[in-house]
Amino acid sequence: MSKETLQSVAAEARGCERCPLYKSATQTVFGEGPADALVVFVGEQPGDQEDLQGRPFVGPAGRIFDKALAEAGIPRDRAYITNAVKHFKFAPRGKRRLHKSPNAFEIDRCRWWLDRELALIRPRLTVALGATAARSLAGRPLAIGRNRGRILAFPGGLQGLVTVHPSSLLRVPDPEARHRAYAEFVGDLGVVAGAVAGAAAA
Ligand code: URA
Repeated sequence: MSKETLQSVAAEARGCERCPLYKSATQTVFGEGPADALVVFVGEQPGDQEDLQGRPFVGPAGRIFDKALAEAGIPRDRAYITNAVKHFKFAPRGKRRLHKSPNAFEIDRCRWWLDRELALIRPRLTVALGATAARSLAGRPLAIGRNRGRILAFPGGLQGLVTVHPSSLLRVPDPEARHRAYAEFVGDLGVVAGAVAGAAAA
């Protein structure tokens, strides 16, 4: 049997039917990034653009995430970026496809792929972006507000951190509050950058 790699697992995941979401999504959106990444970021699920392009975080949430990563001094191409759920879940509304949050069953079924990504990469730090990723990594619901921005222990010996989902920043209506929320997000990513720099130096 040939050795498992991120590429071989991604190829396997293309045919995933572990939950019903594959039926309406365009394709599986697997993670991307180097196998020796020190940090893995886990989002919720692909959005409309990600579903069409087949890559994680390339739509509006991805743009704000990229900006925040750059401000925190984390090169995107040195991190591995993936999602807790690898198919887009949506409700059709005319020509639009409205995001629907994955449920606990879908999150748990998709953990199979996340586990394999994490086992191959063995990152120093795994970052949950938002409640779905936190639920997946912690194995239970975890309040973001009370736990964000500090190093935590996830089950399975994973060192991690939780923060908000970048798309939540796009939904803050008041510009000042949005600016504050963004700065807090960059602050959390600063903790990630510090922990990763410490791990790299060790
Ligand atoms: N939101 C996510 O959680 N993941 C993506 O890849 C894009 C948007």
